[in-house]
Amino acid sequence: EHRFLDSLAALSPEAPAVHRVQSRLADEPAPRAGGFENEPDTDPALADNREWGRAILAAVPSSVLGDATIEAARIESADDLDDVVASAVAAAPGWAALGGAGRAAILRRVAAELSSRRAELIEVAASETGKTLAEGDVEVSEAVDFANYYATLAEELDDVDGARFVPSTLTLVTPPWNFPIAIPLGSTAAALAAGSSVVLKPAGQAKRCGAVLAEALWAAGVPRDVLRLVDVDEGDLGRRLVSHPSVDRVILTGAFETAELFRSWRPDLDLLAETSGKNAIIVTPSADLDLAAADVIRSAFGHAGQKCSAASLVILVGSVATSERFRRQLVDAASTLRVGLPSDPVTQMGPLVEPASGKLLGALTTLAPGESWLVEPRRLDEEGRFWSPGIRAGVAPGSEFHRVEYFGPVLGIMTAATRDEAIELQNATDFGLTAGLHTLDPRELGEWLDRVEAGNLYVNRGITGAIVRRQPFGGWKRSAVGAGGKAGGPNYLVHLGSWEPDALEA
Ligand code: ALA
Repeated sequence: EHRFLDSLAALSPEAPAVHRVQSRLADEPAPRAGGFENEPDTDPALADNREWGRAILAAVPSSVLGDATIEAARIESADDLDDVVASAVAAAPGWAALGGAGRAAILRRVAAELSSRRAELIEVAASETGKTLAEGDVEVSEAVDFANYYATLAEELDDVDGARFVPSTLTLVTPPWNFPIAIPLGSTAAALAAGSSVVLKPAGQAKRCGAVLAEALWAAGVPRDVLRLVDVDEGDLGRRLVSHPSVDRVILTGAFETAELFRSWRPDLDLLAETSGKNAIIVTPSADLDLAAADVIRSAFGHAGQKCSAASLVILVGSVATSERFRRQLVDAASTLRVGLPSDPVTQMGPLVEPASGKLLGALTTLAPGESWLVEPRRLDEEGRFWSPGIRAGVAPGSEFHRVEYFGPVLGIMTAATRDEAIELQNATDFGLTAGLHTLDPRELGEWLDRVEAGNLYVNRGITGAIVRRQPFGGWKRSAVGAGGKAGGPNYLVHLGSWEPDALEA
């Protein structure tokens, strides 16, 4: 039991906004205050919850959740695809006519449904993408938050004087595999809240997660034609879907190159895309170094580094750069992380979603001139999905490791003589998604806030695990394409339609 507790605590992100101790085996969820409130994560301090967790993990190896649903959603021909799109378009006016309040009521039922399927969702994410129990658990909380939060925003759409919000008819949602619960659900809930029909095409590596989410949405009362699930290959049919004239907008979360590909297929595409990142945490001599070390390790190696928000670089300033003690802490923390199967309760870092290849394999196995391994990553299986974490020292400004996103368990250390230089290094990439600063000096914080170029800024905290409403999530530079917009923030829905003057006021 203690070992399980340990593994839950070690990589779980921030404490939830409202920490309510709640047994997952209780018949009734704990009572909540009115209005929007963040959903609490599972508290492993309760013996009940550890028992609940063990049952989920036991089911992971033979999980078939979502299988039948995704099979039924398989698209084999252009005609099939056109039929799906036509049915979603036909259903859109009825959905929009419910008004913000009507859609909000259904989205709140979606939130409750997701909450009641927490165990199922964790199981399918672990089975399909290798997420640990703790990592899946926080994703379910985030998904519940998205449904509840966008419900409140849908109600606000009804209340604007002098203008009427006109939703897009059909939104295509193309989420990634790395947050296979929170992101598809969040993007889908946003489009539904705005009043649009949705075609959801889950990532190829996380299809069953998409299917289980669709089952929950339908069970909560979202009509089947308002939300269509499709499993379509990313070749010709995928291109046909993105280019389909009835698709008004695409919400994409994925690589910058995917956004460019979509745009090459359809130059006038209305795209709301959150794309790649190359994120760094600066640690100054005024930082609490113990806290910094823990936050860097968590941000770099949570979900084996496969997060757009992950820390890929740590930039050590002045005396921190030469601190033997700080390096020792990073080495000890990284080299003692337990890597293993998500179904094993002691696992802190699960596998890669696919065997390391291409540039990630290069980053795990080769060094550039001047670099050295502080912790050398080791391949732990034949296939190359399981790796121990790696830390490379001596990453040079402008080098490949400084610029390229790898999406895996490898962290680079850069050093800077001054804070100015550190901020320059942090900004000197094509991306601008998350950025971190560890300091206890408010003046250093002020100068950083004036200059840092990223969408999500975190101080004395890890740089992953944005919490809905408290930390609206989205980047700039090449981390966002199209309208941008911050998921889980107050302005997200307005990107999903347009405003018309109210007929009575006009
Ligand atoms: N929303 C995810 C995070 O903040 C990507 O880590």
